[in-house]
Amino acid sequence: MKEKITVIPKPVSVKYTEDVYQSEGLSVISGDKSFAGEIEIANNQLRCALEKFGFKGPLCEPGNIFCLKKGDDEASEAYSIVISKEKITIEAASSKGIYHGLQTLRQLVLSEFNNGVLVLPCAEIQDYPCFSWRGLMLDCSRYFYTVPFIKELIDTLSLHHINRFHWHLTDDQGWRLPVAEYPLLTEIGSLRKDSRMRWKPPQGGFYSEDEIRDVVDYAAKRHIETIPEVDLPGHASAILASYPELGCTGGPYQVEERFGIFEDVLCAGNDRILDLATKIFDALVKLFPSKWVHIGGDEVRYNRWEACPKCQKRLAELGLKKPGELQSWITSLLVKMLSERGRTAIGWDEILEDSDKFKLPKETIVMSWRGETGGVRASALGHQVIMTPNSCGCYLDYKHINTAEEPGQSYEPGASVYKAYSMQPVTPEMKSGSEQLILGGQGNLWAELIYAGKFAQYMIFPRICAIAEAVWTPKENKDFEDFSSRLKAHRSRLDTLGIYQYRGPLK
Ligand code: ACM
Ligand code: ZN
Repeated sequence: MKEKITVIPKPVSVKYTEDVYQSEGLSVISGDKSFAGEIEIANNQLRCALEKFGFKGPLCEPGNIFCLKKGDDEASEAYSIVISKEKITIEAASSKGIYHGLQTLRQLVLSEFNNGVLVLPCAEIQDYPCFSWRGLMLDCSRYFYTVPFIKELIDTLSLHHINRFHWHLTDDQGWRLPVAEYPLLTEIGSLRKDSRMRWKPPQGGFYSEDEIRDVVDYAAKRHIETIPEVDLPGHASAILASYPELGCTGGPYQVEERFGIFEDVLCAGNDRILDLATKIFDALVKLFPSKWVHIGGDEVRYNRWEACPKCQKRLAELGLKKPGELQSWITSLLVKMLSERGRTAIGWDEILEDSDKFKLPKETIVMSWRGETGGVRASALGHQVIMTPNSCGCYLDYKHINTAEEPGQSYEPGASVYKAYSMQPVTPEMKSGSEQLILGGQGNLWAELIYAGKFAQYMIFPRICAIAEAVWTPKENKDFEDFSSRLKAHRSRLDTLGIYQYRGPLK
């Protein structure tokens, strides 16, 4: 008899009793009608899992798995599960909490259902997250991942109580978002001539409005909020290829086939870039209910602005001394546009720089990626922060270990599962008292080298499982050896779901 609840992330508390729950087949889950949506999804997820074990048809009746409402607090993510000899009871004060409880149950079924029999230790699980932001970013510009792939990923992320899907929709290598007033963004900007790969697809594509709504809704039903990112004013080759008049030199430009950082960015002296941003934000607000919109802001090169008469005129008019301040000016306008639309901006940590004259508005959330320093600085200035330091295993495009055989970007300090597990959103360098500004953390999958959905899974799993535990489980409960031993059971869950995963050394 297995004694341990091996789920990932590790629950806050598990108390075992001596008994064992055992059922032939699996009961249909029933419960409070306010949880009907979550229960229906979980019954379908379990039905799919059972089919993978070779069991067909409905789950067995009568039900002895129940979801009950205890209290009323839609903001709470807490849940409890009591496994007794006769039944399993999941309780929560919110639909989020119930969904998390159902995912913990799904994990248990995926690993403890053998030869048609589910055997679980009787136990009482109490659980809730440490951090409210537990995310994954997927770069759909460098590689155009399909909607079915994204939905499968979202479903699997929700198994780990991940609750944010950060959708990187635009970059130099492809524009994926329809904007009615700027149709060339998708007509031209979504396609690159890239002929390095012999096979098709994809060298391009974009998501239709219906597809975007479908993804957002699918994620929302799994209690994952989708946050769109439109990267401005850099990483703009796809925009410039579509509308060359928005660049400093006028082009010609092309949707980039190369990877890297490019000098051509939006012209800070051209008012039409603000009209573009307005129309983009209108499109985003229509499609994405999230109160957050990510505006990018990373890796903007200033060479063009330095040489451009229009940018220099703008600089002089605004009384600025250096081009970095022009970026702060643009950022402040973007933040304001979003705020007028009832949304809060998130940006990469570069948006903190050169902001003496145009201060980064206090409500702007900073995503710290160049190590942890952006997060330390931003929280000291009173900004909310999301930690995704490339130095702490959060960059899932990096090799798991630095060998010639391992795929991914080389990164000398490494990005092992251990490193990802050790990630701590609140770092010792942060000023005491600023902890409440740290919303949480996430993993980022940049896709320059990751040219297939299965390949993406290999890079994401199991590092995202480690990150999920780092942002859910109290620091005191974390233990890498214990995580590694639970990971053995967890790998079989991912296998049953058909998710590819890295299997090499964890450190
Ligand atoms: C980034 O990795 N350029 C945010
Ligand atoms: Zn210019």
